[in-house]
Amino acid sequence: MNEQPAPYGNAANAPATRKRVRIHHLQELKERGQKWAMLTAYDMYTAATFDEAGIPVLLVGDSASNNVFGNQTSLPVTVDELIPLARAVTRSAEHALVIADLPFGSYQVSAEQAFHTAVRFMKEASVHAVKLEGGAEMVPQVELLARSGIPVMAHIGFTPQAEHSLGGYRVQGRGADAERLLDAARALEAAGAFAVLMEMVPGDVAADITAALRIPTVGIGAGNGCDAQVLVWQDMVGLRTGRLPRFVKQYADMHSVLLTAAQDYAAEVTAGTFPAPEHTF
Ligand code: KIV
Repeated sequence: MNEQPAPYGNAANAPATRKRVRIHHLQELKERGQKWAMLTAYDMYTAATFDEAGIPVLLVGDSASNNVFGNQTSLPVTVDELIPLARAVTRSAEHALVIADLPFGSYQVSAEQAFHTAVRFMKEASVHAVKLEGGAEMVPQVELLARSGIPVMAHIGFTPQAEHSLGGYRVQGRGADAERLLDAARALEAAGAFAVLMEMVPGDVAADITAALRIPTVGIGAGNGCDAQVLVWQDMVGLRTGRLPRFVKQYADMHSVLLTAAQDYAAEVTAGTFPAPEHTF
């Protein structure tokens, strides 16, 4: 990538020659102490826009379940539902590294199951890496994927696919549990994960884990001691309304923009002012 790894922050800062972000660039950013941003994306326009903004890593999250497909949780979404979204994102992002989430039930049984699911995402959607949830129990899966040339990001702390066994959306790694998280992160790094994502973990615990690991950490609700941050895009731009998790910051009010546009359009159609002569053949 012309010795200019991301993040560029915005397209204006980006070298004209910027190339595909690779996992070694993320490693180099960690070594340089340079933080980077990751966003979810599930379709062509968001993927292209975030790519143009210089976001170096896009995640086709299983959060598509509750942000695209209308489910209450991430549990129902399937591999067959996520693959077309992942394909749209890889077709549309020229520079970003695209990671796909392995959905609930598609990798927990065995390392072989994880391998076959990851291979589907790589062959059918051309993603560059996959992400799976879980701690030390996922070491066999991470080892086999890494050994097979499939970059894998591990997701620890609050893992939404285990929402029911964790007793709901609860901060993980408090008190004595911090040691368990650190051990899991170390085991996943040793197994070959290229990065560890931490969700809803106390900031000091996430910072200690970040300092202990050679590989990059990505935080969501894990404070700013992580090497990178991720948000669900609909949260980040204010498309989602209602009660939001404390870790979300809204950088725009897309809900109001869309609402006003839809209302104005409907009003003009009703009034007979759209289409006007300039929209008519
Ligand atoms: O699926 C998802 O959106 C995630 C979040 C951590 C960003 O895994």
